[in-house]
Amino acid sequence: MSTPSRDLVPPPAAFAARARVGSLERYRQLYAESVTNPEGFWARQAERLHWSQKWTRVVDADFTTARIRWFEGGKLNACFNCVDRHVDAGHGNQIAILWEGDDPGHDERITYRELQRRVARFANVLKKHGVAKGDRVCIYLPMIPELAISVLACARIGAIHSVVFGGFSAHSLRDRIQDAGAKLLITADEGVRGGKAVPLKRIADEAVAECPSITRVLVKQRTGKWVPTVDGRDAWIDEELAHPAIGDDCPCEPMDAEDPLFILYTSGSTGKPKGVLHTTGGYLVGASFTHELVFDHQPGDVYWCTADVGWVTGHSYIVYGPLANRATTLMFEGVPTFPDVGRFWDVVDKHQVSVFYTAPTALRALMQHGDAPVLQRSRKSLRLLGSVGEPINPEVWRWYHRVVGDSRCPIVDTWWQTETGAILIAPLPGATPQKPGSATLPLPGVRPLLVDDEGREVKGDGELSGNLCIAAAWPSIMRSVWGDPQRFFDTYFKRFPGRYFTGDGARRDADGYWWITGRVDDVLNVSGHRIGTAEVESAIVTHPACAEAAVVGFPHEIKGEGICAFVIVKAGIATDAALEQAVKDAVRREIGAIAAPDRVHFVPGLPKTRSGKIMRRILRQLARGVTDDLGDTTTLADPAIVTQVVAAVTGRTAHPPTA
Ligand code: WTA
Repeated sequence: MSTPSRDLVPPPAAFAARARVGSLERYRQLYAESVTNPEGFWARQAERLHWSQKWTRVVDADFTTARIRWFEGGKLNACFNCVDRHVDAGHGNQIAILWEGDDPGHDERITYRELQRRVARFANVLKKHGVAKGDRVCIYLPMIPELAISVLACARIGAIHSVVFGGFSAHSLRDRIQDAGAKLLITADEGVRGGKAVPLKRIADEAVAECPSITRVLVKQRTGKWVPTVDGRDAWIDEELAHPAIGDDCPCEPMDAEDPLFILYTSGSTGKPKGVLHTTGGYLVGASFTHELVFDHQPGDVYWCTADVGWVTGHSYIVYGPLANRATTLMFEGVPTFPDVGRFWDVVDKHQVSVFYTAPTALRALMQHGDAPVLQRSRKSLRLLGSVGEPINPEVWRWYHRVVGDSRCPIVDTWWQTETGAILIAPLPGATPQKPGSATLPLPGVRPLLVDDEGREVKGDGELSGNLCIAAAWPSIMRSVWGDPQRFFDTYFKRFPGRYFTGDGARRDADGYWWITGRVDDVLNVSGHRIGTAEVESAIVTHPACAEAAVVGFPHEIKGEGICAFVIVKAGIATDAALEQAVKDAVRREIGAIAAPDRVHFVPGLPKTRSGKIMRRILRQLARGVTDDLGDTTTLADPAIVTQVVAAVTGRTAHPPTA
């Protein structure tokens, strides 16, 4: 299926005229240069940062061994690059962080100078509590300024931060703290989202009870609600910061380019989430370069990425990328639908946001409420829109373009991953004609390719499809899985030797445009959040009534993908609505609400091959409501099971016979 050319949306002339990269020819030039002379290209890009010592070698990367090093010999500090150097250059009075609270009456403006002071003081508090270079600090905070400040404070002293999204459960938090061996946890009494409180401290207490590595818990009072504290372990952040012994100065630790900057956990197709490790130099070059180019960063922009800092999008495009480029970055504590469905556009008008970056799932949810809530707000300040996290449906793209952007703002559909650290495939808004639903062309320095299941490159000029791989390293690629280098190699470099395998499938059309078709592994993308089927299955069987579970995704109008669970209960257990709820609650408890199944089917068995592998293809069909024509089932150990599963799913037997 090729895309008709009427679907090509060229960059508006007025936009292109002012853009950093203002024509397709200029993009092609940059791209050609980046692939013919990658070392020269990336060395030039690295100059955008302040290095206290210059690198001796640009890149030393080998995908056959998974050894990847950039800018070796160089020294820099990420916090200095995001904060201090801008103050030193005379921009101390510029707003660095614009904070918009959950409550529309609640906001805060933090200048670069103020940010420097608050980060330095915070870093001094961390040092006072024994945090040193290389130590891991876990951050479990809501979207309040302290989240960005604590991230930067860690970077300032060379501590490795591991931010855990505030929607994760106590068990998920515990697993992440234990895996990283974190010494200190930063949390809040409560978070506030959509007018509702989230009991972060209570969850943190439950997690930390099983984390002997944690010696200190620093607590921010966000709502002031009374929460229990543990003597000798807990301290109030505000009291610590106000202590007379805490000074405004804290030197930035010079870090080697390859020193770890952070760990961020993400789901894979097997096992527990893995700690994606990013290092200092390459990551910051990537985040800064892509933020500038893809969002056409201009002085005076008010830039808003609606993600949570608990995800990679927030790391790279709320904190590190924009601050490295001296942008004004907006941090939003709330949700798109509170106090009403016009909130995003109210915030845009209130803060005169010029660049807006969000996820298709939020747009789908808002689109349901029609155009009026959008049209009632001015949105005149907007000049560029972005999308991330999952494929954007062409009709949602068009709505975003026509209604939100008044048909005058380009849209950058940005494809990337926690592992890639920064955007790899996206239009340059002043240069690349867009096609609704396509992430368009690779950024300079990025060499995507398609391979078939046997690992042969799929080549040619026409329309192609296959597994999306990347041929060569870029600076912000992850360096390892924390504590498990073998898993790093096995996950990304083993299946297609010499290439980085993304886990995504893709098409490349005759114009060379990339269309991401979604994960080809057992990873789900629910509301733009990555969730491993194996994790959800393990969570379900923690319930004593459940013997076995298989989980698949199905198309969901708002979430993109919903979760459908097929569960075998133990002998003699009644399968009723209460048990269904209990299964969902088990997942909420083990992982968090974002992973709770939308549907639960109790089944008498699961379709398995003779070697015992669950044939998910059949379950995916059933989850989509297809019950006939389930394809070839002859390789199943027991083909008759399919009829029984179909009967259970379609409700033809109220209580399936238990195994
Ligand atoms: C998916 C989020 C289509 C993809 C930055 C990828 C996308 C996974 C897009 C990474 C996009 C992200 N179009 N699919 N523009 N952006 N994805 O690690 O499947 O949370 O592999 O990083 O999201 O999710 P992650």
